[in-house]
Amino acid sequence: MSALQDSRITEQHNAIEHMISDIEALGDRAVDRARVSKMLSVFMKLAGSYFDNEEKVMMTKGYRPLPSHRSDHRRIIETLELIIQVCCDDSLPISNDIGGRIRELMDEHIKTYDKSMMSYLDKIG
Ligand SMILES: [Fe+2]
Repeated sequence: MSALQDSRITEQHNAIEHMISDIEALGDRAVDRARVSKMLSVFMKLAGSYFDNEEKVMMTKGYRPLPSHRSDHRRIIETLELIIQVCCDDSLPISNDIGGRIRELMDEHIKTYDKSMMSYLDKIG
């Protein structure tokens, strides 16, 4: 079992997956800006806490690419903040596929950063 598979992290990961599905389910009905921005704020807090835990594990396990991995976590949080700002500003057009954008953001991170971290953690046990 890798260090990231402890119950708290697994629980957070599942909550994040669930939340992305909920946001995706809004589809092009995502016109209720207040509701979307509230969901995104909850998602951002959850993702932030998950990222913090991941970074703690990487630090503890001496994972050398931690700085670039951490930067990508920050990029995701900043992107979420930007999307929330747009949601809260009625004068700006809102994307009709926010869920798809968030899924893409997370999938890209998993493919580029999380997979190599996971194989490192599996290797060192
Ligand atoms: Fe990560």
